[in-house]
This record gives sequence, structure tokens and C-alpha cells, in this order.
Amino acid sequence: MVIEVILFGYFTVCVSGDGVADVVLSCTLVEEGVGLGGMGGGASFRRTPATLVFRDVAVASDESLETLTPFVPPSVPDLDLLLFEAKVSSVEIPNADLLLHADCNEQEVMCEISSYSPRGSRESSDPAYFMASLNVEGIEFSTVLILQTLTVEKDHSTLIHNKLGLPLSQSGTLLTEVIFLVFSHIKSVSVPLRGDVLLNCGFKQLQIPLSQEVAIEWRLQHRGKGRRVLDMKTRLDDAEGSTVVHAERRGSSVDAAKVVGEGNASLTLSKLKVLDEGTYICTVSLGLFHAQQVIRLHIIQPPHVSLSKEKLVLKSETRQTLSCHCNNYYPLDVQMEWLSLSLTDTEPAVFPDQGSLSSHRHHGDGTFSLSSHFTVPPSVSPGTKITCRVSHTALDAPLSVSVVVESPEPDSYMWVLGFLIITVLFFYQVMR
Ligand SMILES: *[C@@H]1O[C@H](CO)[C@@H](O)[C@H](O)[C@H]1NC(C)=O
Repeated sequence: MVIEVILFGYFTVCVSGDGVADVVLSCTLVEEGVGLGGMGGGASFRRTPATLVFRDVAVASDESLETLTPFVPPSVPDLDLLLFEAKVSSVEIPNADLLLHADCNEQEVMCEISSYSPRGSRESSDPAYFMASLNVEGIEFSTVLILQTLTVEKDHSTLIHNKLGLPLSQSGTLLTEVIFLVFSHIKSVSVPLRGDVLLNCGFKQLQIPLSQEVAIEWRLQHRGKGRRVLDMKTRLDDAEGSTVVHAERRGSSVDAAKVVGEGNASLTLSKLKVLDEGTYICTVSLGLFHAQQVIRLHIIQPPHVSLSKEKLVLKSETRQTLSCHCNNYYPLDVQMEWLSLSLTDTEPAVFPDQGSLSSHRHHGDGTFSLSSHFTVPPSVSPGTKITCRVSHTALDAPLSVSVVVESPEPDSYMWVLGFLIITVLFFYQVMR
């Protein structure tokens, strides 16, 4: 049976002593339907409230948290309540202080727990395993934990959870320990075309290694298609002699020394192309255990914006057109607006008739170009500034290009005529 727990709630922080705190998460347990596997589409879920308590999370000593009482389980154990108690002293949660502050900052914490079967393990094995994934809304915190139940001495008085069938502590909590975790400091990143990026992914494990063999796999998922970017297998005790890497994308790398030394499985991608955009999945497998992190990579490229004319002189007999070109930008969406600012205006005004857009041009490097063609209304007075304003996700602020309308010059044949008259007059005088 697959049990999945999805927990939504806020963290509560209870400082229990010097430099340690209990983090209490109010949650919802969701059990997935039987036999559908992890990703079963249309699976039905049953939701039950649950609580996850991290015991003795290390707190920086300068932390000025309001002193609260440590987490106290109900005095009369309730065998229907789902109270997960997790020891984090052996595997510290990176940036756990962000969890401590989430509650104060009113950031919602999304937490998902599922019953977990290590590879090749039999069902109903002892110990039991759970996977908890934590995400804090609005900040870059994402961690997946593997919890292993602690052994409880069983006798006739041992409390057994009604639903899970697992032995509980005297106070009715399910005692677990974090034995493995995979985390990331980023959930989503936007990088310019041809730039480089480091997609963050790290892992931690119990001091007693679960295995000496670690496998890192980075996959890219985009618009329903998936492909492998890089995979690496190495041994924690012999990185040099055992590392095998397959980099399917040119210019992708994971530092084997960092994997072994720091549990840092971050992926470096260089010379980014539009095709590199998508959802990256970092899977770390350590012996029988594996866990993932998901990071979104967006490629952004601001448009080059230019006007078709540097000088705009009003002519009475012909309509003038101006074109605004946005070239080689990504992604597709761009807004172009024509504005006028006459000498008497204080604020630019949007022209009622915004002209017409060309169709998008798609370049070989995946970028787009678009032009807007605008007919200058004859009513525009000299001195008016005509602006093409462009908004695009890759631009911090809209980009503007402008031209100032100049008054019509006297037509040149008038000069010729004037010159001729003067010449004729001059000769007339001379000849007389
Ligand atoms: C991995 O190392 C890089 C520096 O090379 C650092 O920026 C990043 O934060 C590290 N990631 C983890 C998960 O430790």
C-alpha cells in the first residue's frame, strides 16, 4: 500500500533550551489509492491531519526568539493522531533557521509526507520509512527528508497506532530519525541566453554511511518531454578510482570531489541555449535510498529595441510611418506601446491608434523578433516626442526609444526659385 501524506500548515517554534528549538508543523496526511504507484494520474487521496515535530533543531545563539515551552504531546495518548517526531541531531537540516522564521514572517510551509519503501525492501519491514518534503512559500527553501522509525521496545503495554500499525512512544508519538535528505537553495532561476548557471542540489546522510555508492542523475523535463542531462556514479570512499560520468549535454558538469567531500551535487551548465529551459530534476541515490529536488530554469534575453527613423520631419502631403523593432528576445511575450509627449503635456499619452504588429520572427537560436508599424497622425505638432515603449520579462523596467517631430523645412524648390529670381534681378541690374 502506498501512503502519502501532504501537510499544509504553519510552523510553530518552541524554544526549549540553549541553542535548540522544537519546530512543530501542523499538517495533513493524504493517503493515495492502492496500487497506483507514486505518480498515478487520477488517484484518489484521503486527507488526515498530522503533525511533524523536529526535535532539538540547532538555533544560532544570537537568535532572539521569544521563549516558548517545548513541544508537549497530549497527556493522554491518542492512537488516531498522527504525530511524527523527527530527530535531526544526526542529519542537520540545512538552513533550518528559515523554517524557524517562516511562522513569524507568515510564510506558509508546504509539507508532504509519504510512506517510503527503500529499493528492494519487503513491505511491512522494520524499521518503517517515510519521506517528508518541505517547501516554504515565497523563499528558496526546499528539502526532502527520509525518516526512519526508531526501534521501540515492544511489550504488552506498547501503544500501536490505529492506522499505521506501528509502535508508538509512551506519549503516543511515532519516533523517527532523519537519515538522508536532499535539498536545494533555489526553486527557480532566470538566466540570460549564453550565460552560465549553477543548479543547486545537495544531500546529507547519517554519519554511519548508508552506502558507499552514490548516484547523481540530472534530468530535464520540458513540454512533456524528458531527457537526461548528466549522470554520475561514484564511491564515497574512492572518488578518484570509481567515478563514472555521462554528460549528455555538452558543457554540463558535476564536481565529483564536491559530491564526495560536501554532498554537493550541483550541476553547472555553460553557454545556455533556449533549449536548456525547463524543469531540472536532481535525483540522489544512496544505496537503497533516493530523493529528488526540482528546479525550474528560465532563459531570458531582453530585446534590442530600435526605431526605423532617427529624424522625423512632418510633411504635409505624405503620411509618415515609424517602425519599432524588438529583436532577438526570449521568451515570446513582449508589449509595445506608442506614446506621445507634446511640448504642452506633462505626462506622455498613449496614442489611440497603436498601429499594426508584424508577425513574430523565430531565429535559429530560439529568440524572437517583432516589429510594430505606426502611422504618425497628421495632427501631431512639431516638438512632440513620439516614444515606443517596450515591456518584457527580461527587462527590469520598460525600455523606451523616442524621436522628436521636427517642423517641415521650406521646400527646396522654393530656394531654387528664390535663387533664380535673385540671379535674374542681379543680371538685370548689371546689364542695364
Ligand atoms: C555547492 O557549491 C557551490 C560553489 O561551488 C555553492 O555555491 C553551492 O551553494 C553549493 N551547494 C550546496 C548544496 O552545498
